[in-house]
Amino acid sequence: MPVIGIPQPFTITAIKTENAATKTFSLAGSLAAEPGQFVMVWLPGHEDKPFSLANADPIRLTIAAVGPLSQALHRLQVGDSLWLRGPLGRGYKLHLPVQGVRHIALVGGGYGVAPLLFLAQEALAIGLQVSAIIGARTAASLLLVEDFTALGLPLMVTTEDGSTGQQGRVTDALRLLLAGSSQRPQALFACGPVGMLRAIADMAVQENLPIQVGWEAHMRCGIGLCGSCEVGQGWLTCLDGPVFAFNPVQARET
Ligand SMILES: Cc1cc2nc3c(=O)[nH]c(=O)nc-3n(C[C@H](O)[C@H](O)[C@H](O)COP(=O)(O)OP(=O)(O)OC[C@H]3O[C@@H](n4cnc5c(N)ncnc54)[C@H](O)[C@@H]3O)c2cc1C
Ligand code: FES
Repeated sequence: MPVIGIPQPFTITAIKTENAATKTFSLAGSLAAEPGQFVMVWLPGHEDKPFSLANADPIRLTIAAVGPLSQALHRLQVGDSLWLRGPLGRGYKLHLPVQGVRHIALVGGGYGVAPLLFLAQEALAIGLQVSAIIGARTAASLLLVEDFTALGLPLMVTTEDGSTGQQGRVTDALRLLLAGSSQRPQALFACGPVGMLRAIADMAVQENLPIQVGWEAHMRCGIGLCGSCEVGQGWLTCLDGPVFAFNPVQARET
């Protein structure tokens, strides 16, 4: 059931430390949500902030401790409650407006890998071939590698310092994947830091591939009222996104 209006409490059933800055919280409860949608998470005494769903049934949130709310969340224990409303926004669309897409590539950096884990599960469940690329600066800052590995899909891991996986950035690994003719994906799905998303979107245009990106903006209300998440052309990230789609082929034809 969606949680509209007043945030509702959910009990924490498990907490997994992913790396020095990040924990994954499993909650008692589920949401009818699509990958890429987000929830506004609240604790008493704090402003609520947006977090992607790493899973919807049960709810899982992968949270980096960067400021007051996320640090307070990191202090919670199993059995404590947090409050949330959602799911909000538009997620990734797997029923692509492109005929014949059977193989997709997911490209994630930072905590952007969290919604892509949810997306990978949904894509595999409907029979799509899924390749995944996840990256970070160092091995110690990688996230959810075990969860992606457990899905049994082709996975490329990159680190900028070469401490594990292929040395370089996710864009380097994507270039390699796109160069392999037999396994070439037909659509891209990305989430991560803005610079990474811009580089992948440029590659999608060069390669004539449709792309959907999970975009981040500063959010206050999460429901289209405050305007704080406006991006170009008057679009609101919380309502029109956070996932935005672009098809270079259709864009050239219109
Ligand atoms: C759609 C969406 C999905 C998100 N999903 C996740 C997730 O799955 N896991 C996760 O850990 N975080 C996620 N975030 C980011 C998270 O909402 C922020 O980090 C949040 O502000 C943390 O709150 P805080 O009170 O702990 O820190 P704050 O004090 O709010 O922020 C700490 C620092 O991060 C900066 N910051 C805050 N929000 C953003 C932003 N959107 N872009 C760039 N800089 C920002 C602030 O300016 C400040 O310097 C998501 C954000 C969006 C918009
Ligand atoms: S967060 Fe308020 S309009 Fe988007």
